[in-house]
Amino acid sequence: MSKILVVANWKMNPVSKKEAENIFNGIKKGVKKLKSEIAVCPPFVYLSLLKGLKIGAQNMFYEDKGAFTGEISPLMLKNYNVDYVIIGHSERRKYFGETDEIINKKIKKALGVGLKIIFCIGETDSQRNNGEAEKIVEQQIKIGLEDISDVAGMVIAYEPVWAIGTGKACGVEDAKKMKEFIVRIITEIYGAETAGQVRILYGGSVNSQNSAGYIKEAGYNGLLVGGASLNAEEFVKIIKSAE
Ligand code: PGA
Repeated sequence: MSKILVVANWKMNPVSKKEAENIFNGIKKGVKKLKSEIAVCPPFVYLSLLKGLKIGAQNMFYEDKGAFTGEISPLMLKNYNVDYVIIGHSERRKYFGETDEIINKKIKKALGVGLKIIFCIGETDSQRNNGEAEKIVEQQIKIGLEDISDVAGMVIAYEPVWAIGTGKACGVEDAKKMKEFIVRIITEIYGAETAGQVRILYGGSVNSQNSAGYIKEAGYNGLLVGGASLNAEEFVKIIKSAE
């Protein structure tokens, strides 16, 4: 298994170029001697500005080019030297109507152009309370990866929706069970060797106090960090805690 991967998802923040540069430079300075793989996913408008760490986009469309006003093409990302693209984030599913089928089209396209994927899955509060967390996660994986023959090198981020931006991070025991469940599903579909090459990240209210538990106790291969990644010092502490 490759290195621990810690990803910053800035979402629709910050609102100025200056702030984006400041946060990015703070992260860059703080991680110089660290061993983990780090990727920063800023809004599209800052992609070309930030250099010196791996960069990811937060979304993309599933067509190469054409009359799709407001969309960003996977080829544009590839030609910009973007390393990663987040696909299927729960905010895309919730506010922009992204279904498992749309996400499947995006994943196929991204893999086709050679982008690395961070595929997000996770159940809502009511789904968990109804005892459906595993069923939903399984469905998201199976539809999201339908007709995709090889997932070696892919990153899957388990982000329970109720834990995102709420300060209510998932308990380490529950997170561990879900990590094992996800590995089981991937193993069932692709076999143990390929499953061993898929990194599973935890995301949802990660901070420097709870981060180590997901890596060291729950066995995750990395973290997807939202709010806390906008504070360079806190984000660097999170990465250090995972090493
Ligand atoms: P959060 O967001 O760390 O602010 O909870 C995580 C995410 O949505 O990727």
